[in-house]
Amino acid sequence: MHLRLLGTIWGLVAFALADAGQHPLSAGSWSGRRWDDPPDPDATGHLLFDTAVNLLKHWSNAYHRNGHNVVSVAIPPGTLLYHGRAKLFYHSQGGIYDPTEPPTGPEWLTPDEDHALYFSAWEGHLYTYTATRELRLLYFDGTSAAVLPTGTQDTQDVIIYGNVTEFHWSPFIRITQLCDWAQKYRLDGFVRMEFDFEIMYCNFTDGLKLISDVDVVPAVFDPPEGWVGSLRPKNLVAYETIVAGNWHNWEPLAGMHVDYSKLISFYDPKYRSLVELRRKASSRSEHRLQNISASDVHTLFDDLDDILTRAPTDRGSRFDWRGLMRHIVEQFADRLQYLQHLVHAQDDRRPGEDGEPHDIASLIFNIRQQVLTMLAPYISRRSFATLPGGALNDTWYEQTIARCTSAHTAHLNTTQFTPQEHVLKSAVEETLHEICRTLVLIWRTAYTSESIISFDQQLGLVEGWKSEMDRLINWLDWAVWQQCSPACSEDHMCSVPQWPFDGILNGTERSTPRCISKLHWKPNNWRPSATAGDGMYSLGGQHQI
Ligand SMILES: *[C@@H]1O[C@H](CO)[C@@H](O)[C@H](O)[C@H]1NC(C)=O
Ligand SMILES: *[C@@H]1O[C@H](CO)[C@@H](O)[C@H](O)[C@H]1NC(C)=O
Ligand SMILES: *[C@@H]1O[C@H](CO)[C@@H](O)[C@H](O)[C@H]1NC(C)=O
Ligand SMILES: *[C@@H]1O[C@H](CO)[C@@H](O)[C@H](O)[C@H]1NC(C)=O
Ligand SMILES: *[C@@H]1O[C@H](CO)[C@@H](O)[C@H](O)[C@H]1NC(C)=O
Ligand SMILES: *[C@@H]1O[C@H](CO)[C@@H](O)[C@H](O)[C@H]1NC(C)=O
Repeated sequence: MHLRLLGTIWGLVAFALADAGQHPLSAGSWSGRRWDDPPDPDATGHLLFDTAVNLLKHWSNAYHRNGHNVVSVAIPPGTLLYHGRAKLFYHSQGGIYDPTEPPTGPEWLTPDEDHALYFSAWEGHLYTYTATRELRLLYFDGTSAAVLPTGTQDTQDVIIYGNVTEFHWSPFIRITQLCDWAQKYRLDGFVRMEFDFEIMYCNFTDGLKLISDVDVVPAVFDPPEGWVGSLRPKNLVAYETIVAGNWHNWEPLAGMHVDYSKLISFYDPKYRSLVELRRKASSRSEHRLQNISASDVHTLFDDLDDILTRAPTDRGSRFDWRGLMRHIVEQFADRLQYLQHLVHAQDDRRPGEDGEPHDIASLIFNIRQQVLTMLAPYISRRSFATLPGGALNDTWYEQTIARCTSAHTAHLNTTQFTPQEHVLKSAVEETLHEICRTLVLIWRTAYTSESIISFDQQLGLVEGWKSEMDRLINWLDWAVWQQCSPACSEDHMCSVPQWPFDGILNGTERSTPRCISKLHWKPNNWRPSATAGDGMYSLGGQHQI
């Protein structure tokens, strides 16, 4: 370990619920409020929901870079993990590292060959390991391996230093500090993400078996004896690491099991000292753990103690939280996006571009249909008998929202929930409540809208719906809605910018996806190295995998 890239590394291195028996919702909830009250400005349930459903998915964690979750993950025996190292990597204490020797102490592993190959690209080795037993790891979400001063490593800093006051650059110091801390809990390491996922593994001689060692073909110089033709261009070797990360955009990384009953989130409203800074934030990229109070740090360590020393038999409710949250995203993501498109169809309309008649009367009919589609499971046919002619009242709205909000969780027996599961349940309900409330707000005027014939009134309705939808979409800010538009050509891939060599240099950059070339992609910050004038490039802060 303590491998250090000196300047010569080529690698870019570089709610009131109608049902009884609900667990009381935590702070930031909507209890005691009118059905049409907006969410508490300090609410975090939707943030906790969004980060929890996206654990181990690349796209969302690259879009929302600053992670807020710390969660136990397990790697089953037999899982393959890779490590690459090359001739030109240097030991931090000096001296050229011998690439023929696999690591012994703390070092990095990756679940993807193409990620490891990047680090063996100069006459290096690709080492393949298998887990000989279940590996116990702690996962930091977000782009937690990116060495940026803008919050990607706040969670780790709080664990290591107890505060977030300075920028700690060195990944080599960090791995030692985290692995020292890990000993107390007999953790094997940590899962993090940058352009792809990685593992900081604490002891290569414990829990791993080396099963293959290939002296892989170099990418840059010195073709092997007898080689004919070109080698892989270095920019494309680097590009393929981004490709490997993008393999995990929509399905969570395979080979790792997240234990949702052991999910600690800084979006848990009990971490009060983080609220103030969030109020000042203009977007999620400004959600940080700076100014965390000593008592909140104490709470974190108590929670870590709880999850990491819990008896293996205490597995909480064993409910499939990921499955539930995924279902909710599948149920609403495309439909909300399409409804957003419809309420804006008048603005975006360009003659001849779209065969759909988005005249105002059609739009009103179609928008009403879309809202009815989403609310349909929660609307009772009988409820209209006492409210004829469109006289829907507050009781009706409240009951419909309550049914919609609790539909997925009211049945859960909370007796065996871990403390973390109670927080997850609140997060799911808070998220659903706001989706349901917004739909019911639109439905309140859409229900009787088909009989309106005044153009100005029609336009006024759509304008009102538009602002409700814009607000909801912005509040949820789901990464699945970040797409390349227009779609990329066959020769391009849609990708969120990545540190360190694909558009993210200092963390102030936006994470809007764009098309990048499959054939001619180039790192945006390659700089000729002072010590290798022959086409070698360097970037500080990148470690070897
Ligand atoms: C932050 O933590 C470091 C290391 O634990 C400590 O030396 C320093 O005084 C702390 N800073 C503040 C402002 O609490
Ligand atoms: C690494 O694991 C091996 C095998 O369990 C053990 O002998 C060794 O002491 C461990 N090294 C450290 C630094 O804990
Ligand atoms: C965080 O602490 C610093 C230093 O004490 C202070 O200047 C800053 O205003 C605080 N920020 C918030 C959001 O409380
Ligand atoms: C709504 O209408 C129902 C049925 O007519 C009635 O029982 C209920 O009291 C009304 N609620 C409100 C808040 O007006
Ligand atoms: C909830 O689970 C507990 C423990 O498993 C059980 O004793 C209780 O009867 C269950 N309650 C309901 C309403 O099913
Ligand atoms: C961050 O990098 C961008 C270019 O990517 C630059 O325009 C900006 O000034 C830099 N900000 C800081 C604080 O270094």
